[in-house]
Amino acid sequence: HGTGGTCPAHAMADAFDAFEGPYQVDPAEALRWSRDQMPVFFSPKLGYWVVSRYDDIKAVFRDNILYSPRNALEKITPVSQEAMDALASYGYAMNRTMVNEDEPAHMARRRVLMDHFLPENLETKQAMIRRLTREKMDAFIDSGRVDLVEAMLYEVPLTVALNFLGVPEDDIDTLRTFSVAHAVNTWGRPTPEQQVAVAHSVGKFWQYAGDVIERMRAEPEGTGWMHDTIRKNALMPDIVTDSYVHSMMMAIIVAAHETTALASANMFKTLLTHRDAWDDICADPSLIPNAVEECLRYCGSIVAWRREATAPSTLGGIDLPEGAKLLIVMASGNQDERHFEDGDRFDIYRDNAVEHLSFGYGSHQCMGKNIGRMEMRIFLEEMTRRLPHLRLAEQDFTYLPNTSFRGPDHLWVEWDPALNPERTRP
Ligand code: HEM
Repeated sequence: HGTGGTCPAHAMADAFDAFEGPYQVDPAEALRWSRDQMPVFFSPKLGYWVVSRYDDIKAVFRDNILYSPRNALEKITPVSQEAMDALASYGYAMNRTMVNEDEPAHMARRRVLMDHFLPENLETKQAMIRRLTREKMDAFIDSGRVDLVEAMLYEVPLTVALNFLGVPEDDIDTLRTFSVAHAVNTWGRPTPEQQVAVAHSVGKFWQYAGDVIERMRAEPEGTGWMHDTIRKNALMPDIVTDSYVHSMMMAIIVAAHETTALASANMFKTLLTHRDAWDDICADPSLIPNAVEECLRYCGSIVAWRREATAPSTLGGIDLPEGAKLLIVMASGNQDERHFEDGDRFDIYRDNAVEHLSFGYGSHQCMGKNIGRMEMRIFLEEMTRRLPHLRLAEQDFTYLPNTSFRGPDHLWVEWDPALNPERTRP
């Protein structure tokens, strides 16, 4: 299994590269050979066992004792001493949050911090998301051409995230630099020189997160999930620990907005390249919820996640040693024809689209999934209503090379403002 055999599948396993080539172009397609021939294989270049089939990925998510999430936020590229020194100079001590916490600590924490995420408590966010979306659209609707990422899809999820968390909306540009650095630091393959620059950004992000917590502590009546977290930290410091609060403050900003921004960009790109689907949604907005699920299945923003085996195990017929590090590729599982008929076909009418693995599965399943979904739905509702004649502009798409976070850096779209429905039917 990737240990120097001569069969074609072994050669593919040996050649597998998570940071360049086919996996960066299309992770699901890049692992088609694996789904068919070797669904669990060791990648010598990555040092991880890659898992590509739907059922195996789900089985890994389901057993978070045997397959611990403790390595989910580890730096996937080993860091140089210089970068480690740079991080240490900021007192960097990123540790367990929620997503990489083991039981029983994880469930105890998740339970006391769940309230804000329940659908009935998210209803109040709808109007805000719609208002923000409309404001952004008002600013570009007469222009005829815009980069949707810059103009809307980055900032709205960030503002929504900061509002949900109760974090002051400081400096959006600074947060953006920090987020990219955090993603590269955790899931990317920076060169040794880049590592040092990234370490300085991540170190500053860490300190910034600490400052934000201090400011929030000074407002004991503050609203939002992180304020609640800070109050619970005072009430039950064994469950909601100090280390958790600081680590989470940094991780959640990325978890809550980068995921949603990228998923939304993937959604518009895919729908506009499948014009029939776009036109169908414009004609019948009740198709939107399932279209969002199909987009999350077909082109989700978290394409792979990590686990670590705590004991010897067998997965997909392969024996794994204790300590095996796994890269479970949801983008591949989501197109596995063993679970989704014609899995590589985009179909907004698919009746099991919602069974995708893009939010994970089981006890760690994304707590913010209904916020992400709500934002994606509102974006689609507003855009299909006000710009049904939108089309994708000619462009070369670029992506940040990394194992897990996927979405185009820019998404240029065009339309003829003279044909805007709100002009022709005022
Ligand atoms: C966990 C994806 C939006 C908060 C996760 C996980 C994934 C994910 C893959 C790991 C699941 C697992 O280990 O089983 C996404 C995607 C999003 C999104 C694709 C948007 C489209 C959000 C938002 C928030 C959020 C908006 C918060 C406001 C969290 C938290 C966890 C998590 C707190 C940890 C849950 C736990 O370990 O118990 N998300 N996420 N996510 N996500 Fe999201």
